[in-house]
Amino acid sequence: MYLLSIHDGHTSTAALFRNNELLAAASEERFTRKKCQEGMPVNAINYVLNEAKIAPEDVDEIVLPTLSKPLLGEDLKLTGTNKLRRYVFRFSPYIPSRIRDSDFALKMYRALTRKDMSSYNEQIKEMGFKVEPYTLDHHLSHASAYYFSPFDKALVFTLDGSGDGLSGTVYYAEGDNLQLLKKINSYHSIGEMYTRVTQYLGMKPLEHEYKVMGLAPYASKKYGEQAYKKFSKYFTHRNGSIINTSGGYGLSFLNILKRDMFGVRFDNIAYGLQKRLEEVVLSWINYWVAKKKVYNIVLSGGVFMNVKLNMKIKNEFPNMFVFPSCGDESLPLTSLAYVSSVKYGKRPKPLGPIYLGPEYSSDQIENTLESKKYAKLVRYTRTRSPEREAARRIADGKIVARFNGRMEWGARALGNRSILADASNLVNVQKINRAIKKRDFWMPFAPSMLDGWHKEYLVNASYAPYMILAFQSTKLARKDLIAAMHQFDFTVRPQVVKKTWNPSYYELLYDYSKITGRGGLLNTSFNLHGFPIVNSPSDALRTLLNSEIDYLIMGNYIISRR
Ligand SMILES: [Fe+2]
Repeated sequence: MYLLSIHDGHTSTAALFRNNELLAAASEERFTRKKCQEGMPVNAINYVLNEAKIAPEDVDEIVLPTLSKPLLGEDLKLTGTNKLRRYVFRFSPYIPSRIRDSDFALKMYRALTRKDMSSYNEQIKEMGFKVEPYTLDHHLSHASAYYFSPFDKALVFTLDGSGDGLSGTVYYAEGDNLQLLKKINSYHSIGEMYTRVTQYLGMKPLEHEYKVMGLAPYASKKYGEQAYKKFSKYFTHRNGSIINTSGGYGLSFLNILKRDMFGVRFDNIAYGLQKRLEEVVLSWINYWVAKKKVYNIVLSGGVFMNVKLNMKIKNEFPNMFVFPSCGDESLPLTSLAYVSSVKYGKRPKPLGPIYLGPEYSSDQIENTLESKKYAKLVRYTRTRSPEREAARRIADGKIVARFNGRMEWGARALGNRSILADASNLVNVQKINRAIKKRDFWMPFAPSMLDGWHKEYLVNASYAPYMILAFQSTKLARKDLIAAMHQFDFTVRPQVVKKTWNPSYYELLYDYSKITGRGGLLNTSFNLHGFPIVNSPSDALRTLLNSEIDYLIMGNYIISRR
């Protein structure tokens, strides 16, 4: 039995289950080469079907993990229901809370923004599918991350900007059941607040929130605390819910920021926001844990991409599972886990490696290398031990791009589409920034480390394979991995690599440790600034040619520019 799920909003994505096994998942941006690509992910759908070697008519279920129409960039014009949505948002601060926060208002919102299923049915039919798709609630889809967790009983917390009129939920999960305990409507969205601050600071909303998080530690305590006091007036936790007390939402909240934050320096704003976020979310989680006396917790939804917030939560609740890359690109994966568990009574295994994207054969790589487009621009040799060759070059101070096996699903490069460098040398931060990344100067890099070594490098270490958790670093880490941590507070967002999860990447790290005596190295995603992570050999070669990466090791080929 094959189950397909399609998310067609921001960073549209498709995923496929065979029975209860996650077979393939990829975001459309990797195929169209446009970051955060929205809309029907036609290429990603074709890819997941090809991966399973099936045709559209073999698919037994199609799930759309959101009830409402996606709010796409080009749709932000004031037409039809979008116009209504904008008005509702604009006036929501003035609507009495008993009406604004009522189930009736939510029902009305959902009725007015519901997906037009006839158009979906038509599109799906045209693509050759025989079944009609059905929709699953956005936050229930996020919460279904639980089915991938190692727990049989847990409290599940979801938080995001907004989805189907909500910005957060709390579920009690036991066995295959998810019981809704609380819903937080969009007006009270702490994710939306983070997005508007990102916008206020001149960065790209819905994309650069992580930069605001990275900026926060640089604030001076004195001025940061002053900004924090202002943020404390905007959001609070009350009786198990998160409440917007700012008197604004969306663009009107932006006006409040302009009024209150004029003259406040950017890093102090970031500090105030981050501190308030952590405080409110922790208080909210603590409330439910104390009430239900359940100590396993599951986190899902875009707000939990905030690794600093996750670190604070994990320090209080060590039995925690955060779904990796838990923005809306995770909806197809989690919604399939729901359908498989609830409808078919077959819960998937706890989440394992997420190398769920395309893989390219040696022939395909060699054909690309020999193609007219690249043959004169690159030189290459073949090797039997690409891992050792990569390790040796990285130890020599070279910047090596690695392209191997299946592409990672999600926002983080986990070694298969990664740029690697010696993390003990701070010069490499500037070198990579100059050579390829052109990142903002305050943004940290992250390390990959061998399983086992994480106990030497991380304070309160735990197995963290997805780069979705941050840790304080040890003294040794500050020596070995200084270029792959936050340069001001020395926190790290590691990928711990287990042999069974990625044997080839493990071997590379192992060889590197034998040469250098260090158990980890710098790992940043393999892409040019402003582009999605590379997918195909041709994407990889183009990136090599437009950067100053020293070597590209692709499959068994060592490649450099002529
Ligand atoms: Fe979401």
